[in-house]
Amino acid sequence: MFVLAAAGSAVGLGNVWKFPYMAGDSGGGAFVLLYFVCIALLGLPVMISEVLLGRRGRSSPANTMRTLAREEGQSPLWGMLGVMGMLTGLLILSYYSVIAGWTLAYVLEAAEGSFSGISAQGVGEIFNRLVADPWRLMFWHTLFMVLTMFVILRGVRRGLEAAVRFLMPGLFLLILVMVVYAVIAGDFLGGLRFLFTPDFSKITPDVVLKAMGQAFFTLSLGMGAIMMYGAYLPEDASIASTSVQVALTDTLIAILAGLAIFPIVFANGLEAGQGPGLIFTTLPLAFGHMPGGTLFGLLFFILLVFAAWTSAISMIEPAVAWMVEKFSFTRFRSSLVCGLIVWAIGAGTVLSFNLWTRVRLLDGTAFEGKSFFDLLDYLTSNIMLPLGGILICLFAAWVMSEPSRRDELRIGHPAGYVLWRFLARYIAPLGVVLIFLHVLGIV
Ligand code: TRP
Repeated sequence: MFVLAAAGSAVGLGNVWKFPYMAGDSGGGAFVLLYFVCIALLGLPVMISEVLLGRRGRSSPANTMRTLAREEGQSPLWGMLGVMGMLTGLLILSYYSVIAGWTLAYVLEAAEGSFSGISAQGVGEIFNRLVADPWRLMFWHTLFMVLTMFVILRGVRRGLEAAVRFLMPGLFLLILVMVVYAVIAGDFLGGLRFLFTPDFSKITPDVVLKAMGQAFFTLSLGMGAIMMYGAYLPEDASIASTSVQVALTDTLIAILAGLAIFPIVFANGLEAGQGPGLIFTTLPLAFGHMPGGTLFGLLFFILLVFAAWTSAISMIEPAVAWMVEKFSFTRFRSSLVCGLIVWAIGAGTVLSFNLWTRVRLLDGTAFEGKSFFDLLDYLTSNIMLPLGGILICLFAAWVMSEPSRRDELRIGHPAGYVLWRFLARYIAPLGVVLIFLHVLGIV
């Protein structure tokens, strides 16, 4: 159950939508290399720490942190880490749901056969027409939030399991089909070269920050989602090996998505750095020209909606569970309150693609040139998640007593334990802090 839930949370738009467009924006290979390094040196130790705390606390993240702090004789202020995590989750969901809404809209486009025989220009028109219309975006965003809150209302466990067990392998297979198509009809070598030959001159402090943010985002780390699911992990399961399994699966899916997309981009002379619309303006081209493309396209967008759905649930569940515990709300009331807050903030992202394209809230600051959507994404992925992540590591690897964490982790190999502790104590926190300082121009 834990592996399914964690994989369901980790695999989502982050792999299929965000990874390719971030890699495209940041110049390809160098970003991908940094992303691998961040997954291995920061993501994995944080993930192991987060699951460790979750299994020991067995409650919502805010409660877990408070209980564990009490157990270790530490300040109840650690509970604030859970509260910050909930806030981060709600903010991420507010724009994630809008993008999931694009995916829903594309299910309909695919079903109507809009992609068949389409040109690169036609694909661009479909996408631009969609994002230019705030009412349409709002409609699909609302529908996605209703779907998410429906599952949340019924309790997370049921249904989710089946969805992940059957639909994830389906998504995986379809991405493989797309990669095969990219080999046959795309500029596959061009795609490989773009993703795997790092051009080190492309590495700027901002690219490093984004690669780190993407590592946290794609593994769902730093806000308590994985902590929440850690509570489902049985006592005898190995935290380290399940975490490695989840991280590997997640990374593999992102890479395959990249291999499906970039060959199409280069074969059609499209712009790799065009931003968040990337997959929506490339994949339909493939579906429009491959045999059985209408059916594959339909299935693909449906499965992507499911992948987004199981991720979305993990973003909002900590906040819903916390409200039930804290204010004795019924689950219904708590879901309604959280859902409405997220839905309303989502309107800002909807508008940032049309009426507010030129609105820049924080110009003249370090956040120059960022739209509402860009700001939210930057703040949550690149700042709040890594910050949450290092606090989680610090708690697990420094604050918690040695016997408690050794007992909870039970890594078979003594060297494995020491390696995790070293990464979680020093490398991950210092890595994140150094990257922050680097962006601020201090180091
Ligand atoms: N990892 C998911 C994806 O790749 C998104 C996600 C789910 C997430 N839960 C999260 C991101 C918690 C950050 C924090 O699509």
